Amino acid sequence: MEKLALLLISFFFSLAAALERSQFPPGFLFGTSTSSYQIEGGYLEDNKSLSNWDAFTSMPGKIKDGTNGNIADDHYHLYKEDVELMHSLGVNSYRFSISWPRVLPSKLGDINWNGISFYNDLIDILLLKGIQPFVTLNHYDIPQELEDRFGSWLNPQIQEEYGYFADVCFEAFGEKIKYWITFNEPNIMIKWAYMKGIYPPGRCSQPFGDCTFGNSTAEPYIAAHNLILSHATAVDIYRKKYQEKQGGSFGIVISIEWKEPFSDDKMDVSAAARSVAFNVAWYLDPLILGDYPSEMREILGPRLPTFSSDEKKKLQNKLDFVGVNHYSTKYARDCIVSHCDSLTTETDGFVFTTEEKDGRLIGARTGLPEFFVVPSGMEKAVLYVTQRYNNISIFITENGSVAQDSRSDGIMEELLNDRERVEFHRSYLSSLLNAMRKGADVKGYFIWSLIDNFEWVYGYTKRFGLYHVNYDTQERTPKLSAKWFIKKATSWKPFS
Ligand code: NOJ
Repeated sequence: MEKLALLLISFFFSLAAALERSQFPPGFLFGTSTSSYQIEGGYLEDNKSLSNWDAFTSMPGKIKDGTNGNIADDHYHLYKEDVELMHSLGVNSYRFSISWPRVLPSKLGDINWNGISFYNDLIDILLLKGIQPFVTLNHYDIPQELEDRFGSWLNPQIQEEYGYFADVCFEAFGEKIKYWITFNEPNIMIKWAYMKGIYPPGRCSQPFGDCTFGNSTAEPYIAAHNLILSHATAVDIYRKKYQEKQGGSFGIVISIEWKEPFSDDKMDVSAAARSVAFNVAWYLDPLILGDYPSEMREILGPRLPTFSSDEKKKLQNKLDFVGVNHYSTKYARDCIVSHCDSLTTETDGFVFTTEEKDGRLIGARTGLPEFFVVPSGMEKAVLYVTQRYNNISIFITENGSVAQDSRSDGIMEELLNDRERVEFHRSYLSSLLNAMRKGADVKGYFIWSLIDNFEWVYGYTKRFGLYHVNYDTQERTPKLSAKWFIKKATSWKPFS
């Protein structure tokens, strides 16, 4: 049995041989990615307060397996071991996020020094191991208190609160941090939290069902507006107080699901472009080009807020790089002229998305019903950002493969059979290299994820890790993909 496993492993290593570290530029960051709520646990420990996800997961029916992040991977206690895992993977960077309610458990001003020292310890150990910390300030979780007190993202007050949180982090950690990300996937967060109601605060903008609160078609755009201005507030603070001394750079992470036109019909071709604009340019255009994309303004009219001239000024020079999370590709069909259910397609700019054409899937299925393996989507997503935004620097802040359900229970299955994950990363990295050869300024690639973790509404039923986690014992075990990554990583230099 062991021999067979070894044989299999070397077979796959030889298959994947075409991909080498030397094909990437010197200083390129290779890392893994995680987020606070998905791995930390440490629920209400050492004065952490309730997060919006703590509150949401305690509501019946919100999470598929009825679980929550109270313990998760217990990374709050096991972080040293987890840094060791990264060290053995040979990565030179680690992207993680800071739990806002762990650092600022209550209102403005009350700093939780336990939270600060947790992250300081983590950062120190990473640096000791030659691993560059790549810090996300906000990866979906906010103090529930902000929700209760003034309605979080719906209220412009959030800009000051977020600015203060960021300021506390810059002051506490900034001397050791070169890369900051203000927000993770606001395009996904706003959609699920304010359009479809499946992320906290569970508000709906359309008659989707599944909504706990609200029903306003303007809310998602107001929440996004406040979030974009919060980004600018935080970067403003940094530029004024810390830039000179700390010299860090700033990005925002956008999820880019690539869209292929369903047909050659020009309505479908423009639907595919519109759908990407409604997801990506919604956030990047204001922060790079100074205003919302015309594609959105034309369709949404006054529902899309406007930036005052002061706000436009504030948006200038607020982005040094773009973080791209890329997982999947779908077909886009026009919904304005043709007859699809436009109510359910507003989230994509009145575009109907589908994975099937003439009875054939766009790519192989994965463990998530909405993700399909289409490696060429990586090259196209990256070149979109490169071309629309004047060759701005890009980090692939997430790319990852989710195990099929049938394989996710048995540890041996996962250990020996995550060949799909190896092939996934090999093919997506090759596609990334194509984009780089065509001129994209890509500076790093982070695998989602280091370890299996809490996958939001799916709870623990979906596994993305290079390391398998046994949630009963918290034991971490390398999968075949981790071994592949180690092998590939041996020549990857620590960052300088
Ligand atoms: C994107 C999100 O940033 C992350 O939290 C999530 O777990 C992965 N995608 C996988 O769905």
